[in-house]
Amino acid sequence: MSPELRPAAVFVLAAGQGTRMKSDTPKVLHTLCGRPLVGHVVANALGLEPRRLAVVVGHGREQVAAYLASVDPEIRAVVQEEQHGTGHATRVAMEALTETDGEIEGTVLVLFGDTPLLSTETMSAVLAEHQRADRAVTVLTAIPDDPTGYGRVIRDGESVVGIVEQKDATPEQVAITEVNSGVFAFDAKVLRDALGRLNRNNKQGEEYLTDVLGIAAADGLSVGAHVVEDWHETLGINDRVQLADMRRLFNRRLTERWMREGVSIIDPATTLIDVQATLGRDAIVYPNTQLYGGTVLAPGAEVGPNCTLTDTFVGEGARVTNATTEGAEIGPEATVGPYTYLRPGTKLARGAKAGGFVEMKNAEIGEGSKVPHLSYVGDATIGEGCNIGAGTITANYDGVAKHRTEIGDHVFVGSDTVLIAPAKLGDGAFVAAGSAVSSPVGPGELAVARGRQRNIAGYIERKRPDSKAARAAARAKAENATDKS
Ligand code: UD1
Ligand code: CA
Repeated sequence: MSPELRPAAVFVLAAGQGTRMKSDTPKVLHTLCGRPLVGHVVANALGLEPRRLAVVVGHGREQVAAYLASVDPEIRAVVQEEQHGTGHATRVAMEALTETDGEIEGTVLVLFGDTPLLSTETMSAVLAEHQRADRAVTVLTAIPDDPTGYGRVIRDGESVVGIVEQKDATPEQVAITEVNSGVFAFDAKVLRDALGRLNRNNKQGEEYLTDVLGIAAADGLSVGAHVVEDWHETLGINDRVQLADMRRLFNRRLTERWMREGVSIIDPATTLIDVQATLGRDAIVYPNTQLYGGTVLAPGAEVGPNCTLTDTFVGEGARVTNATTEGAEIGPEATVGPYTYLRPGTKLARGAKAGGFVEMKNAEIGEGSKVPHLSYVGDATIGEGCNIGAGTITANYDGVAKHRTEIGDHVFVGSDTVLIAPAKLGDGAFVAAGSAVSSPVGPGELAVARGRQRNIAGYIERKRPDSKAARAAARAKAENATDKS
């Protein structure tokens, strides 16, 4: 952002209730591709490096203000106690900032909190045109497929003379196709003056921000419009159907962006990507896969089908299929799946494996170590080159506290073993299948912790003389006898 274009202030209006969402959550906190609606607006506005950013809050103010503080403590939440319209909201913001900072000079950009697609580029374009044409007011307008409900832009030749809300419009005005997006650049002085002259003489009994434009035009000041290139950017969210439509639209933009960066997405329609996720070159995403939160796919990683990854790192050339992971780190060339659940704190080193029906939590698996089948590994450290047999369980919880299991390098754990934590297996140790290990195993030791096998001859013939089992046993014995003779 060039320094001359940096606005003196950005106001984001977000005090409305969002009645049509029918929700206990304020509208602007509903999530779109991993970020609340107002979060998108704020993130894109911060791209302008404004000198001040104020968000007008009202309904659900505590929740909205808390969210904003988590994004950036510099953002100011200004409370609009009662919602008397967009002009009133802007006036409240202007008064609050004037009180703390003195009279604002320069350009003020006003945005709505429920238009998440509006890009930093479009905001900059409005500011650039506003400055180049040396205007008092510049409004961003759009020509959408359906203008119903929007304020209509009244022009006199090239110049804009007013905006009329649909509810206040004459039939001729309703026929106008150019509408107000809600984005305005104002000269601060002009704005302050006009905000003091607003009235509520309209169908909704509100102070309309749009009237500032009319007042400036009537005063003979320079007022103009910037027509948005893609009207979808100005779409606002009013209900959950629009939110879902927007999700589809936004997701298509995200998937297209990553494909243009060199990622193969086999089926973009069933691939959901959050806005914070990043995908490396030559990564491949198979159908029905969700990449949530700050998930990162390194170059050449392959994920899917049917994966839900949240805040997960997938290393170069790693392969993840049919898995649910959260807060996990999957090293380069590692393999995960199918039907695998990796919970927070799981770290697989290079070439490690978490195979079918394996669950891990808070577990570090060393380079090349494999947990191929049907196991639970929790609160454990496993060294490199280990093989953990099918059905191994770390019994990490005694009903009161969690305990760790520590396994050295090149350890072999036989199938169906319970490692009762705290447990320790030294380097090169070997645990026999079916063991319940409750004391430490030293380096290179063999642990056999199971009942010794005892066979009782003739048992079935005695207990179940006429059963199929008894006849099968008798037949086998007879055959053995003839074989030997
Ligand atoms: C507004 C515009 C209309 C434009 C449309 C674009 C006005 C008078 N009308 O109409 O010309 O075409 O947006 O979407 O400006 N808000 C507050 N405090 C209030 C009232 C509203 O913070 O007292 C916030 C809302 O939370 C919302 C935004 O301002 O984020 C817009 O308000 P809304 O009531 O949705 O305006 P529209 O009737 O859609
Ligand atoms: Ca609206």
